[in-house]
Amino acid sequence: MAFELTRNGQVIGYRRDDLEINPPYLYPDYVSTQTRAPKRPLVPMPHTLSEITGPVYGHERIGELDHDLTRQHEGEPVGERIIVHGRLLDGDGRPVRNSLIEIWQANAGGRYRHQGDQHPSPLDPNFSGGGRCMTDDDGHYEFVTIKPGAYPWQNNPNAWRSRHIHLSLFGPAFATRLVTQMFFPGDPLFFQDPIFNSVRDPQARERMICSYDHDRTVEEWALGYRYDIVLRGREATPTED
Ligand SMILES: [Fe+2]
Repeated sequence: MAFELTRNGQVIGYRRDDLEINPPYLYPDYVSTQTRAPKRPLVPMPHTLSEITGPVYGHERIGELDHDLTRQHEGEPVGERIIVHGRLLDGDGRPVRNSLIEIWQANAGGRYRHQGDQHPSPLDPNFSGGGRCMTDDDGHYEFVTIKPGAYPWQNNPNAWRSRHIHLSLFGPAFATRLVTQMFFPGDPLFFQDPIFNSVRDPQARERMICSYDHDRTVEEWALGYRYDIVLRGREATPTED
């Protein structure tokens, strides 16, 4: 990577999360945060050289169809076929290239292929729900999948998750890794979804919702959705003395 790693003997780290924008660790409406949130204030640690330079992944580890969740089995999964694509950018607007993106999601009936999900909706023998790809030189990525269904999750009475796709974005380094969820426009379940609402700034919540992309919609085949993702930028100068 063509950027300065250190200055005056100090590692130039990445920017810290904006605590006004990111969801709090403790958000009581999201019940499991009550037991897992840290009880004491966090101690910020300076980023180390290995955190800002690794991991490095190669394209050779990614299978040709890993990005296409509709072609991982004998037949095709049930559901509304969609193309989800966009660009991965850093906090300074530059493309994040050759970076691993992983997704996981429920099937069209809102069921995960996971032991922990036993709610009465069928598994789809043609859908596992996991995919991965690398961003290209322009930071672009693309997945083909089916639109996930809403699912009940027992957080509170009659609680249903808004339709969403989970994403893990490594970015250029461990210090930029982001695990998040992408939502779909116009979902009627947003009002009662505490994970969605744990991001308290309404404008920041909007940034978790993809947009319908008619230009990427393929006639007779699939609807397109666009979702650009911004990871942390680097500190211009070291913040730790
Ligand atoms: Fe989920």
